[in-house]
Amino acid sequence: MPQSTCQTLANNPRDIARAAELIKDGELVAFPTETVYGLGGDATNDHAVAAIFKAKGRPQFNPLIVHFADVAEVAEEVDFDARARALADAFWPGPLTLILPRQTGCRISLLASAGLETLAVRIPGHDLARSLIETAQKPIAAPSANRSGHTSPTCAEHVITEFGAGLSTGVAAVIDGGNCSIGIESTVLDLSIDMPIILRPGKITAEQLEPLLGSLGQSAPESSQPNSPVKSPGLLERHYAPDLPLRMNAREAKPREALLGFGPNASEPAPVPVLNLSLAGNLDEAAANLFSMIRALDRGNYQGIAVMPIPDKGLGCAINDRLRRASHD
Ligand code: TXA
Ligand code: MG
Repeated sequence: MPQSTCQTLANNPRDIARAAELIKDGELVAFPTETVYGLGGDATNDHAVAAIFKAKGRPQFNPLIVHFADVAEVAEEVDFDARARALADAFWPGPLTLILPRQTGCRISLLASAGLETLAVRIPGHDLARSLIETAQKPIAAPSANRSGHTSPTCAEHVITEFGAGLSTGVAAVIDGGNCSIGIESTVLDLSIDMPIILRPGKITAEQLEPLLGSLGQSAPESSQPNSPVKSPGLLERHYAPDLPLRMNAREAKPREALLGFGPNASEPAPVPVLNLSLAGNLDEAAANLFSMIRALDRGNYQGIAVMPIPDKGLGCAINDRLRRASHD
């Protein structure tokens, strides 16, 4: 029976064992990774995977990432070729998701692939996440632990706002592991094709991948290929959306807008509310603050959020990608 209230568990062996039991029973548990919190369920259990889609209100055509604790287990479910091994050696555990062909006999629920012949796999860099997977002895399917289209959660409190106490959402528990160190979702790399393509930019950048893979392919603009098969369905939607309109590359706030600054020059005379992604202009710090600051400003009594320019290099590409989706009409 799905539980109707969401309990908060702590980062200790007893609570992780409790969370692992819930996963084995087909329940949903939100847990921290180094990127964002995931909403996890047993990836081999069709009912658990269906419950993830239901809890998030996620369209069934949008596939899920499956999380593993070690490479040998990944290689049992997908065609893990030499390129995948080289990337795993370099970047796992860590914030890189690989899209690979499902093996014949793959045990992962077909629902997780949403009708595609591929599966998204990753070994998370967060110790707590790996110990949950190891203790449950199950691969864990986990999208970001937010309602579909909302901003991704980077602390347990965000998850509780989305699925928490008193809300009958089918989420049995959230493990509180503090703030996520990276704060932006993993890089998604399509390795099921000859020339790999980054489907979603993240902490691991093209410059880091190219020495191992050669040149990457370009992802075609979404609107230029209306009849082609959808390669990464989740990337087509408006995402990360705050309730307030969000405006990028703003030099200053307009009347009744809050300002989300970046760097030392972000100041506005009172009464404009200002949060700064990174006073020092550091992109790692900005990524770690991005979703929590958007959530904080979204609660205020303003008419919009103006975001100062973020340099479009390195992790800045991933930050700008999320801002573009958040500001899309
Ligand atoms: O950092 C992360 O990746 C977090 C943590 C929890 O691991 N997870 C996450 O999951 O961001 P989600 O579901 O919010 O985003 C997964 C993205 C979606 O855009 C989805 O469309 C894409 O990966 N994806 C999943 N499976 C795919 C597949 N087989 N082919 C192409 N894209 C896929
Ligand atoms: Mg997501």
